[in-house]
Amino acid sequence: MDLNALNAVAEAMVAPGKGILAADESTGTIKKRFDAIGVENTEENRRDYRELMFRAAEGMKYVSGVILYDETIWQDAADGTPLVDLITAAGSIPGIKVDKGVTPLPGFPGETITEGLDGLGARLAAYYERGARFAKWRAVIDIADGIPTQGAIKANAHALARYAGLCQANQIVPIVEPEILMDGAHDIARCDEVTRAVLKSVFAELAEMRVALEGIVLKPNMVICGKKCANRASVDEVARRTIEVLKATVPAAVPGIAYLSGGQSDEEATAHLDAMNRIGGFPWKMTFSYGRALQAAPQKAWAGKRENVAAAQAAFAHRARMNGLASLGQWAEDMEKVAA
Ligand code: 13P
Repeated sequence: MDLNALNAVAEAMVAPGKGILAADESTGTIKKRFDAIGVENTEENRRDYRELMFRAAEGMKYVSGVILYDETIWQDAADGTPLVDLITAAGSIPGIKVDKGVTPLPGFPGETITEGLDGLGARLAAYYERGARFAKWRAVIDIADGIPTQGAIKANAHALARYAGLCQANQIVPIVEPEILMDGAHDIARCDEVTRAVLKSVFAELAEMRVALEGIVLKPNMVICGKKCANRASVDEVARRTIEVLKATVPAAVPGIAYLSGGQSDEEATAHLDAMNRIGGFPWKMTFSYGRALQAAPQKAWAGKRENVAAAQAAFAHRARMNGLASLGQWAEDMEKVAA
């Protein structure tokens, strides 16, 4: 393992003014997005949609890396150019989602474990050959009555650490993603408590598995209330509490934090990231690794029609630029209105 090279990739992934585009929806998840815009979920439509983003030069200026799904990393653009080559030509780093999704954890009703460790070393080597320089593995933690349990937290944290070690052995930077879902009615204090417990466990397992923290990127949820919580927290409270929780649990050796959007609205996700970077006072870069919060607008503008490609690229560029500015603490709400 060449840790300096891993660290250089991790630093590039969180370079100031840029962030990560999570375009790694599985075939089932992209179907939900396509259903919402009336697009048939065919291999060609999935390719055309991803290709339009990777060719959107104005938007890709703010994208340090792109997380791909297995199908996409092997796909070629309509003119035969591998999609990974479009990403590198745009100055961005190709990455790959390597987990195989969640399955119920036996003995833990309502809780899941992420699968995909068996054979992962060989898969990582093939992805590296194809151009991937980072990977993603998502652990999912739900908050409800009596959950999460310490047992499920530990099992998920251990799988993340095993994955991270395998990535580094294959010269790939692991994005370590323990996602606490914002479904449900829990308040921000409960999210604060659970996020602390999960991150504490994740970093204990990473240490036990001898993962070099200089060569990872953490992708956490923000500390935020559940979608059904009546008592909404302000942007400032989300920003302050998220920073506080990370400071108490994440070692300074980690180069950067790239948040998931997790179902926040586009503008909320941008405002929260911006607020954290305005507050500052933490040892890491803080940026985005958004899926929905970057792609909802371009998907709506595209609607599967060739004549809408330019409008979709413009919508993507706008969201990417807004989030790029938020990664510097330089976003303002009126910038949204000017462009709208
Ligand atoms: P969202 O930003 O839509 O939560 O997606 C990010 C991601 O990659 C979740 O695993």
